[in-house]
Amino acid sequence: MQTFVTREEITHWRQQKLALGQSVGFVPTMGALHKGHLSLVEQASKENEVVIVSIFVNPKQFNIDADLDQYPRMIEADLKLLKKFDHIVVFLPSESEMYPENQPFEPMPLERIGQLMEGAHRPGHFEGVVHVVHHLFDLIAPNKAYFGQKDFQQLAVIRQLNAYYQFGIEIIGCQTIREANGLAMSSRNLRLNEAQREQAAAIYKALCYIKKQVGHMPIELAKKNAMEQIENAGLKLEYLEIVDPLTLDACIDWQSLQVCCIAAVCGGIRLIDNMLYESVL
Ligand code: PAF
Repeated sequence: MQTFVTREEITHWRQQKLALGQSVGFVPTMGALHKGHLSLVEQASKENEVVIVSIFVNPKQFNIDADLDQYPRMIEADLKLLKKFDHIVVFLPSESEMYPENQPFEPMPLERIGQLMEGAHRPGHFEGVVHVVHHLFDLIAPNKAYFGQKDFQQLAVIRQLNAYYQFGIEIIGCQTIREANGLAMSSRNLRLNEAQREQAAAIYKALCYIKKQVGHMPIELAKKNAMEQIENAGLKLEYLEIVDPLTLDACIDWQSLQVCCIAAVCGGIRLIDNMLYESVL
């Protein structure tokens, strides 16, 4: 497995792949890899001749310094997990390599989809995500890029970024991988103890509760009950919204498709999750 640390190495590698006519799949990560990431790499490996995984804890997307400091970093373990894949390269840039001073960047206007929910609760977060993903797409120029649906709103922002900067990359949203109790896999789960992992499953339970109410109970009541369930489990709810999957505008009534997005804090760790509901009206 090759590992690269400089932009020059990536550019050279990319030119070789282009000359060979090989398709490139890209999985951007911030490391502390878990089964969710590995499922993205697995899918990328099936659909492309070569796969590149980036590992970079992007300081620009953290709005709280302590969150950035405490973000798990475990490069050796990550590389070990990736070794089982064939035709894979790993990009491990430093901050100065990721953001060289001479690298041009015109921020795109974050429209409504980037301003609601995560956008409102984590000022600057999506601006930071857009900045790093822009540079990664620009450098790697993959054919396809893979993102987890757990970060539903991030995926919407990435699709917008891809269109805005005209990268022409196929953006693939991959299914959320869950722990046995339903908790969505996340690098942040490493910071939860056993009891907190059980407590955090209240988020998934609330998502499942709403699923059962779709088309039956008034939407506001379903939301209210689910919010109470999360708070009664001892979590601090930041938001629970049921929104249109395309516009992310709040649904005032059940529609044929809607997504419930939740952010809640468990034992000081901020977790997000979502579920898409279809209903026959
Ligand atoms: O989802 C993540 O891990 C990050 O936001 C990403 C896309 C790798 C950008 O830093």
